[in-house]
Amino acid sequence: MANVAVVGSQWGDEGKGKIVDWLSSRADVVVRFQGGHNAGHTLVINGVVYKLSLLPSGVVRPGKLSVIGNGVVVDPWALLKEIAAIQEKGVEITPDTLLVAENCALILPLHSAVDKAREEARGVNKIGTTGRGIGPAYEDKVARRAIRVCDLADEAVLEHKVEQLLFHHNALLRGLGAEELAKDEVLAQLREVAPKLLPYSAVVWKRLDEARRQGKRILFEGAQGAMLDVDHGTYPFVTSSNTVAGNAAAGSGMGPGAVGHVLGITKAYTTRVGSGPFPTELHDEIGDKIGQRGHEFGTVTGRKRRCGWFDAVMVRQAIKTGGITGIALTKLDVLDGFDELKVCTGYKLNGEVIQHLPAGQTAQAQVEPIYETFEGWSESTQGARSWAQLPAAAIKYVRRIEELIEAPVTLLSTSPERDDTILMRDPFED
Ligand code: GDP
Ligand code: IMO
Ligand code: MG
Repeated sequence: MANVAVVGSQWGDEGKGKIVDWLSSRADVVVRFQGGHNAGHTLVINGVVYKLSLLPSGVVRPGKLSVIGNGVVVDPWALLKEIAAIQEKGVEITPDTLLVAENCALILPLHSAVDKAREEARGVNKIGTTGRGIGPAYEDKVARRAIRVCDLADEAVLEHKVEQLLFHHNALLRGLGAEELAKDEVLAQLREVAPKLLPYSAVVWKRLDEARRQGKRILFEGAQGAMLDVDHGTYPFVTSSNTVAGNAAAGSGMGPGAVGHVLGITKAYTTRVGSGPFPTELHDEIGDKIGQRGHEFGTVTGRKRRCGWFDAVMVRQAIKTGGITGIALTKLDVLDGFDELKVCTGYKLNGEVIQHLPAGQTAQAQVEPIYETFEGWSESTQGARSWAQLPAAAIKYVRRIEELIEAPVTLLSTSPERDDTILMRDPFED
């Protein structure tokens, strides 16, 4: 019996949260392995909406263990706020149901300040980050000066580590003519939050190993998407972590064999928040209609998402680079009532036809989509719970997508509600 990793195959917001929540009924443990509170995962259960950023989408199901793995960057204040907000909705979250890896790097207030200041300085070249300090926190982690969860319990090193951190950051602030940070202030912030966060701190790799040996099913929950991956995405317009399922093992402290089926969550069209290339973007009323029907506004920042046609070249590339074994196609219902639909099947670049998105920034900005046109459907697919309820034109659209991306559609989602999901092949049984 395989474990399952759920990852985004486009630019995020594909509906990962809904699918993880739905699949969590078949799992025992749900693990986040990368990213931070830049993620915004929306679940709708019997009309009640849950918005999660750092908490794994399994938290709302009683009896499941939720785990924040070492690959996640944790803002303690954001996490505690989110726990309180979800508890207010009647969900039980305790150190028995939620574990945070003791070796997670922390996001401190200075990281979001640096993130925002840098974006402002970039002007028109800004990346369009969520401003949550994700990039600066990962930079400090890789540079070996991050404060980690375990350091909060280690007074012997905390002060020295804060000194080292500020030695770096204050040099930059001085260079920018900005006010420097006081060591005592940062230390006071950390000492204040430590007793609230530490009860959740755990030796996650060990707990996951035990769970695995007991035959428990583990569901890995990715954030962002393949095109935001720091290696495989539209660099530099990406996030600062590897979003692909290959990182599920490293980001949770398990071996690569622990990750079984890789389910790529894929919207039936394409959206993107923030800057960067988007070959199939629509700047017309069709794009607006998709955005309105799909309620395409960011969960985290409220920004309007850019919308466009399905890009089969990009999704196929995500499937290959991310080892995706099957996809969950979401938001098919948003395409109800269009006269015709288009799918990108190749790109034109400098007079040549190519079948992949090149790595170079200039080429990525210049590729022109080649489209195949489909007849739309006027019937409603909203809330459909079986394949037989879908109109013939919708089935044709889905089948052609499978062919173009060279992977099967394993699940189909037809509304934000948990149970409006069609299972074609159980990923846990693969
Ligand atoms: P995530 O970041 O990948 O978890 O996705 P988000 O939660 O940011 O965005 C997906 C949005 O689409 C959420 O508001 C979901 O409630 C909604 N959604 C998910 N699946 C479907 C679907 O099949 N149909 C429709 N209409 N909405 C969906
Ligand atoms: P979920 O998990 C969509 C985008 C930002 C920006 C870029 C870098 O909900 O799919 P960052 O703050 O990470 O440094 O921003 O990545 N981005 C997302 N876009 N969904 C997300 O998460 C995202 N997380 C980051 O908009 O373009
Ligand atoms: Mg989202």
